[in-house]
Amino acid sequence: MRTFYVTTPIYYVNAEPHLGTAYSTIAADVLARYHRLKGEDVFFLTGVDEHGENIQTLAAEKGISEQELCDQMAPMFTKLWKKLNLSNDIFLRTTSELHKRGATKFLNALYKTGDIYKGKYDGYYCRRCESFYTERELAESKNCPVHKLPVEWVEEENYFFALSKYQDGLRAHIRANPEFIQPESRRNEVLNVVESGLKDVSISRASVSWGIPLPFDQTHMTYVWIEALCNYITALGYGEDGEKFHKYWPANVHMMGKDITRFHAIIWPAMLMAVNLPLPRQIFAHGFVTNQGEKISKTKGNVIDMDTLIGEFGLDAFRYFFLREFSFGNDGDYSQDRFVLRYNADLANDLGNLLNRTLGLVSKNFGVIPEPTTPGEFDDEVKGIARETIDQVDALMGQLAFDMALEKIWEFVRRINRYVQQTQVWSLAKSEETKGRMGTILYNCMESLRTIAVLISPFVPDTANRIRQQMGLDECFENQGLDTVSEWGGLPSGKTVGKPEPIFPRKDTKRKPRHAASSQTEQIATENLISIDQFQSMDLRVAEVIAAERIPNADRLLKLQVDLGSEKRQVVAGIAAHYSPEDLVGKQIVLVANLKPTKIRGIESQGMLLAASGKKELAVATFEKRLPPGTQVR
Ligand code: MSP
Repeated sequence: MRTFYVTTPIYYVNAEPHLGTAYSTIAADVLARYHRLKGEDVFFLTGVDEHGENIQTLAAEKGISEQELCDQMAPMFTKLWKKLNLSNDIFLRTTSELHKRGATKFLNALYKTGDIYKGKYDGYYCRRCESFYTERELAESKNCPVHKLPVEWVEEENYFFALSKYQDGLRAHIRANPEFIQPESRRNEVLNVVESGLKDVSISRASVSWGIPLPFDQTHMTYVWIEALCNYITALGYGEDGEKFHKYWPANVHMMGKDITRFHAIIWPAMLMAVNLPLPRQIFAHGFVTNQGEKISKTKGNVIDMDTLIGEFGLDAFRYFFLREFSFGNDGDYSQDRFVLRYNADLANDLGNLLNRTLGLVSKNFGVIPEPTTPGEFDDEVKGIARETIDQVDALMGQLAFDMALEKIWEFVRRINRYVQQTQVWSLAKSEETKGRMGTILYNCMESLRTIAVLISPFVPDTANRIRQQMGLDECFENQGLDTVSEWGGLPSGKTVGKPEPIFPRKDTKRKPRHAASSQTEQIATENLISIDQFQSMDLRVAEVIAAERIPNADRLLKLQVDLGSEKRQVVAGIAAHYSPEDLVGKQIVLVANLKPTKIRGIESQGMLLAASGKKELAVATFEKRLPPGTQVR
């Protein structure tokens, strides 16, 4: 069986976990779940980094021992990870015996290579990063590039690792393996650093007392970063449980934030090269979650309250938002407005409505999953898109392009919503003749939903299960691999469907005070901006008015019959005060074609036309030349 080993950084326990740290861990969880879905034997590691000077200082400030501090802090992480429904196979603590034993063995192995020597170190040191920086790496006015705080000039007797020896080997490896460091921007950065010359690095701290002593000189503590990096192998029982180590090492991907790429992409691989261990297959550095442009961190005090967000919108919406909204390799600025917009547009509207509508029609007209007896227009296209979506999602997940994978899935969701519209499936219940076709369309919708549920399950596991339950399928998703949707038609007909319930109840967008209107035109919104994807989720079409009539007892309404090329629609529009029916016949208008049908004064309206309306005037949007009905408007 193929294995897949994914890791997150191990988090310092000198601060509680926050959204920034949760972001890495959720992403790793999604990847782990996706590979399990593919039938692979996955090992997902996360944990905490408990040694070093920062912990020592904080424990002293609190008047407790370092171990007590770690024992208080570590459960905050495990509790949050549980709440976020993370599926890690191990939670490694660097104060655990497993880690201490493994790190000691690794340091001994490194020592044996002859690449470790004693020397004097002098350099710029940031105590918060617990890291030395070269003059070139320092930010303006000689501050630490991460904390933007002054660094100290430190001179110490330390042990060194001969990193410079591995410069050529590293360069060759990075060059020969384009996937080794991703995204590309980070790969280029690392290559630049390597090519401009590597200096040996110190691996011990004489002034720190909280850590793992160097096995070959107990008077020195191992530099926290050196033993922390070892966690990726100590968690597999390096040096003892040969089986697990050989099964999962090398890691398929080490995920981390871009601030710590250098440790993972230079120092760690060089140490592995030194002891002749295979290198991880990929180092992927993601961007930062920012709040108004500033990296979210406990020290900056700009954390976002996860409990409130999860309480209000649910865990799955929270997991979905951060992976859908931000491109994983880039920074992404958090905004509550964007959260609500995505929730309503993607989850409540696109996905929630598709499920609700499909199951509503199945329950009302069949009660059980219908038989697909009567193929017809669009069916093959839908089946083809299902297959394509599975393949494209797989390729995108391979690139850790979570946002694009979700977009692909949602394109499919929106296509099925359009299929419902195009086939006007609700209108086929009228006669026994058309009922076979109705059942087939609904079967196809449900089969699509089953595929969608499998594909979204790594991102929103509970939602996937709820969809499945509502569809009347009993087995939960943990047992539903990707192979169960690889062939169209795996959905069993004849099963009783469950009760449709909204999976993402719509949330009211907070009403903002309206801007004062200047003359006829209201100020154009510069807040609550929508993305191109949201705009593209609207299916706008050229529609030709073929008939129009007034509606008795409704002065403002006209009932229009419009031609959309592949189908005819009925639309009710509130334009009777401005147009008489005969003005409209023959006009080509813009129709929002994927709007949920609704009843206005008891008359079904299957779309909405676009018109500009001021205080007095109203004008229906038309085209300056004639176009085939159904042409898309972008
Ligand atoms: N202990 C080291 C890692 C050792 S790994 C062998 C460490 N810990 S940390 O707690 O400071 O940070 C852990 C990770 O959280 C880093 O990858 C960092 O980039 C990430 N994040 C912290 N704040 C973040 C955001 N606001 N956004 C995204 N990730 C961020 O470094």
